[in-house]
Amino acid sequence: MTVKKILFVSSEVSPLARTGGLGDVVGALPPVLRRQGYDVRIIMPLYKPISARYGSDLQFLGWHMIRMGWRTLYCGVLKMDLDGQIIYFIDNEYYFNHDQIYLDYSFDIERFSFFQRAVLDSLEKPLDFMPDILHLHDWQTGMIPCLLQAHYHPYSRLRQLRTIFTIHNLKYQGIHGKERIADLMDLPERFLTEDGVLRDGVPNFMKAGIVYADQVTTVSPTYAAEIRQEYYGEGLHDLLNRQAHKLTGLINGIDTKNYNPATDPDIACRYTNENWKEGKAACKAALQAELGLRQQASLPLVVMVTRLVEQKGLDLLLHVLEELLDGSLQLAILGTGEVQYEQALRETAKRNPEIMAVSLTFDDALARRFYAGADLFLMPSLFEPCGLSQMIAMRYGTIPVVRETGGLKDTVQPYNQYTGSGNGFSFSNVNAHELLFITRYACDILRHMPEAWQALVRQAMQEDFSWNRSATRYGRLYELLAAEQAEEQPCT
Ligand code: GLC
Repeated sequence: MTVKKILFVSSEVSPLARTGGLGDVVGALPPVLRRQGYDVRIIMPLYKPISARYGSDLQFLGWHMIRMGWRTLYCGVLKMDLDGQIIYFIDNEYYFNHDQIYLDYSFDIERFSFFQRAVLDSLEKPLDFMPDILHLHDWQTGMIPCLLQAHYHPYSRLRQLRTIFTIHNLKYQGIHGKERIADLMDLPERFLTEDGVLRDGVPNFMKAGIVYADQVTTVSPTYAAEIRQEYYGEGLHDLLNRQAHKLTGLINGIDTKNYNPATDPDIACRYTNENWKEGKAACKAALQAELGLRQQASLPLVVMVTRLVEQKGLDLLLHVLEELLDGSLQLAILGTGEVQYEQALRETAKRNPEIMAVSLTFDDALARRFYAGADLFLMPSLFEPCGLSQMIAMRYGTIPVVRETGGLKDTVQPYNQYTGSGNGFSFSNVNAHELLFITRYACDILRHMPEAWQALVRQAMQEDFSWNRSATRYGRLYELLAAEQAEEQPCT
């Protein structure tokens, strides 16, 4: 059997460039697939911090000019081997030589239009790799399956490519005016229809990915079902129902080597599922001290590590925040985001310095100390395609309290007081008081039922959140596509 060649196409790849879960997934999945026998490589834009940091490790493969509407633009292609993972880069200083991955929305549409066209035009040359399958991620890559049909000859090598489009978050769709997209993409009229890339008269990259890709996946089975309903469908639920035959939900994993309390150099005290009690107690004391919270072992420490945006349920939290801070627990929040949330949290913390702390930064090492030092991890998301933090928290023996949606529902089994089973706590409605009551309930179990709590922590720490199972299922999709491709090859 020949080795299947897969090219991941993404705007974020951890550890080179990430703003959230997308980068983590694209960083963690390829090495696991490689161990399963696939030749997986990645292509991404060359952002400024990458060339600054890895300059001499980058191998220049060549350059060419890319046509985009009335423009003709330079496109350099570079290559790097990062711990055995081959990553290709698309270089264009005007578009990508910036400190941030995302700039302003309108410019981003143009930047990622260029990126998508550059990826396809670079495949035969200067890239030294011709994949069988393109694995695309989120709206920044959603036009690629359509571009393949629009720009390449039916018998060309590129038209044999199969595509998988993975939705990490349906909310962000890449939408812009028709004239501008027709120009940036040089799209013939026949694609600019409601059956094609338009939704309500406007081009939509996310929609295009769903329509034209051979397979569509999203990052948990529950989210795959939810997005077919109007409430979660972000206006695309009818389309997703029509395309349900090619839609699958595959749960994300986490990098269990990287997130491991037994080896993590950033936490105050390392521990395993044997000695977690002492280990976590030391981590908790250290975190309380670091955050200036009252040093009290018996107070449940509830944390959030999150982007401060509506999706993450911050309005629910703010609605019951004063009630939550009744002195029976401590709350610590780490993350950055929208100003109104930052302000509200900062002000409440200022009024309650002994029991509430807020760190408005994005700091990976501090996040690990939160995961290790906390008792409970709060994630009251309105929707959550998968969510990685609840899995990381469990790996560190911190019990999640989540709303039953998307991947949170698929990974957190609520505590059952009769059987003692479960690895966390959950509530079902978008209702601030449900959040309040379940959090208090969890704190009660922690304080008054030590054995039940220990069983919860043991269960949480034992869960298998590695990528192996999902990688195998992605592998099956690749095989399916490769088989289809083989059937279509003309006989020789
Ligand atoms: C997005 C989603 C998150 C998911 C991540 C990786 O950030 O909001 O739920 O875990 O992508 O797929």
